Amino acid sequence: MTEQEPISFPDGFLWGTATASFQVEGAAHEDGRGQSIWDRFCREPGRVLHGDTGDVACDHYHRMEADLELMSELGLRAYRFSIAWPRVLPEGRGAVNQAGLDFYRRLVDGLRARDILPVATLYHWDLPDTLGQAGGWLQRDTAEAFGDYTAAVVEALGEGMGMWITLNEPWCSAWLGYAIGVHAPGRTDMGEALAAHHHLLLAHARAVAALRSGPGNAPVGITLNLGAVRAASDHPDDLAAARRIDGNHNRIFLDPLFAGHYPDDMVEWMGDWRPGLSVISEGDAAAIAAPIDFLGVNYYSPATVAAPERALASAAEGLVGLAPEPGTFGDAYRATMLSRLGAPTTAMGWEIDSSGLQELLTRLGAEVPVPLYVTENGAACEDYRNCDGEVVDTERIDYLDAHLRAARAAIDAGADLRGYFAWSLMDNFEWSYGYSKRFGLVYVDYPTGERVPKASARWYKEVIGRNGLAGRS
Ligand code: FCB
Repeated sequence: MTEQEPISFPDGFLWGTATASFQVEGAAHEDGRGQSIWDRFCREPGRVLHGDTGDVACDHYHRMEADLELMSELGLRAYRFSIAWPRVLPEGRGAVNQAGLDFYRRLVDGLRARDILPVATLYHWDLPDTLGQAGGWLQRDTAEAFGDYTAAVVEALGEGMGMWITLNEPWCSAWLGYAIGVHAPGRTDMGEALAAHHHLLLAHARAVAALRSGPGNAPVGITLNLGAVRAASDHPDDLAAARRIDGNHNRIFLDPLFAGHYPDDMVEWMGDWRPGLSVISEGDAAAIAAPIDFLGVNYYSPATVAAPERALASAAEGLVGLAPEPGTFGDAYRATMLSRLGAPTTAMGWEIDSSGLQELLTRLGAEVPVPLYVTENGAACEDYRNCDGEVVDTERIDYLDAHLRAARAAIDAGADLRGYFAWSLMDNFEWSYGYSKRFGLVYVDYPTGERVPKASARWYKEVIGRNGLAGRS
């Protein structure tokens, strides 16, 4: 390993960790919480590994005080959590469940009391099931209901809130949920994914408007899982395939949010599934482009793309991937996603390449007119407690160290990056992988609920304390 210099971050850089309601809270049937589309999805056979559910998760709902203490011990300056819509409005709209709001009020106050900035995401995928059953994100009404839900939340929590994030990774809600089918509601229709995509952006717009007219003055943003998309070669067909995936992952969000329109080349490409865009109404584009204060970026791994007919040529370069099945997302975009043979990966099988984060942040620094925050970044590892009861997750420390160096390099290249949130504070429910993947800085012993800070938690505390990284050899 090459020698690495100590580095520091700009003064006031915000250091945090992130979680999401469905992944940590549990208490799924308590204090008036309604069912979400993920509660339903977990119960459909074959959707989630081992049939795991969010019923108990990390039991954070009951252990909130102890978790707050843990955050304080880690020296966190910020905590990104999400608010469960069905805890606040069990039916998605209508009567507010005060007990749900009270839980988040205690959380916000508990964070403030410990000098930790509360950063709330309003939607991290747990749509109230009543709305899901009525068509979910295929319905324009869901976006309107999200605006009303946001108004109720900001009324109760606006005072004291540190930052607002409207949506987490709407790409996953629309495309994993409606085109690829591995997330709730598990549908596989490109036209539906497009309609869902537009309604999610509209929901963002309605939430921004509600937040702007509610109490408090916390900055408002959105979190996107934008891609560091690379073409497998300079062949024009590979470049065109990569451009389409860049269109689907990046420009289909950045253009409407910051330039007020969907990208022309994407609209042209859509063909058969373009009817999904017929849900657009007059006024939507302007609402979606209403100014925001920051952009949240979640990054885990880069994407390498080839045209399907070029997949064999790529294999000669050590890049492998399966030609897309007819009728799938890859087929619709005529794109094959490739993995580099022998490249290091996390326990998710995701390639580890911190240069993707540097590339992405540098690009956004040049293209986006607002400050940036890394709102998620981290690694799943095969963590275990050793005979001393400790979790020595050196691989995670290596991953985080490399990605923070990449973030710093992007700042040097001009990106206005203001903070970083490690995913995740603690091991939790990893969607269709259930509890089989551990991303936490803190280990969760699921049978007992015990929290065990990993070596990476102690390392992160030092990073925060020194506002930077120590040298490494
Ligand atoms: C992101 C999600 C987050 C978590 C990480 C690993 O896509 O926002 O909830 O599952 O991936």
